[in-house]
Amino acid sequence: MTLVTPQRTAAAAAFDHLAVDYDAVFTHSSIGSAQRAAVWECAKSIFTPHSRLLELNCGTGEDAIHFAEQGFNITSCDISPAMISQARRKALQTHTNDHIRFYVQANEKIGDLPEKHPFSGCFSNFSGLNCVKDLNGLSSSLAPMLLPGSPLLFCFSTRYCLWEIAWHLLRADLSRCSRRWSGYHETTLGDTILSVYYPTCREISRSFAQDFRLIAVYGIGITVPPSYVEPWIAKRPGLLQTLQRIDTAIYRLPMINRLGDHMLLHLERLHS
Ligand SMILES: C[S@@+](CC[C@H](N)C(=O)[O-])C[C@H]1O[C@@H](n2cnc3c(N)ncnc32)[C@H](O)[C@@H]1O
Repeated sequence: MTLVTPQRTAAAAAFDHLAVDYDAVFTHSSIGSAQRAAVWECAKSIFTPHSRLLELNCGTGEDAIHFAEQGFNITSCDISPAMISQARRKALQTHTNDHIRFYVQANEKIGDLPEKHPFSGCFSNFSGLNCVKDLNGLSSSLAPMLLPGSPLLFCFSTRYCLWEIAWHLLRADLSRCSRRWSGYHETTLGDTILSVYYPTCREISRSFAQDFRLIAVYGIGITVPPSYVEPWIAKRPGLLQTLQRIDTAIYRLPMINRLGDHMLLHLERLHS
């Protein structure tokens, strides 16, 4: 029997509540599209074409559909039944469903996935892993599910986001400005309080060190702002394009790559 912890119940409830509007509010926003395009650009050179990928916290399936359209075979999981039902509907609409299998499955229980291993790559986009307290445990579960040499691409919310600091400082809102700094924050989504963790790059790398090595870190949303700036940036499409070009020029720079809204970690399964 699977024991459901309060955090996992909270995550499912919180994201169920967001599922129907998630694409309108984030996926199809100009900032969401810009940040996702930057992630896809990195993924293009990291995953071996047509390989079999495991996706964690897939949300409404936007990335699963993208990878299926690129010829990948993908197994996509999320803790929220409502997110998975949106994802299944979209996969049917885009005729990509033959290449994707969706499961309601928590990251913390990924080892129980009722599907044959191993996979040849693993992907997690936009902060689903910031809801996981025990990254060591996740690493141990993932290790036997991945072929030696497999790439992993994990997009986390950062500990320090320059845009967030500047945006809230200008509004004299010190509590929002500093919400990520302790590495832990409780956020309210709908009626639910959800624990969110902000591990540093070094902490993540340590949690995975037993079976994986860190290859590179890419900044996502460095000068492109966080999604809550959408109403402001939507009136300035030319500026957003310029910021996207700046991000493309600086996303690999040491330190800068950890100060955006998100950081994309490229890890590799060790040949043990
Ligand atoms: C911000 S959304 C990102 C969704 C998707 N990856 C994307 O790129 O749009 C975070 C997702 O993580 C999922 N999630 C949160 N905690 C989780 C957990 N413990 N296990 C699996 N999925 C989780 C949520 O249900 C939600 O769909």
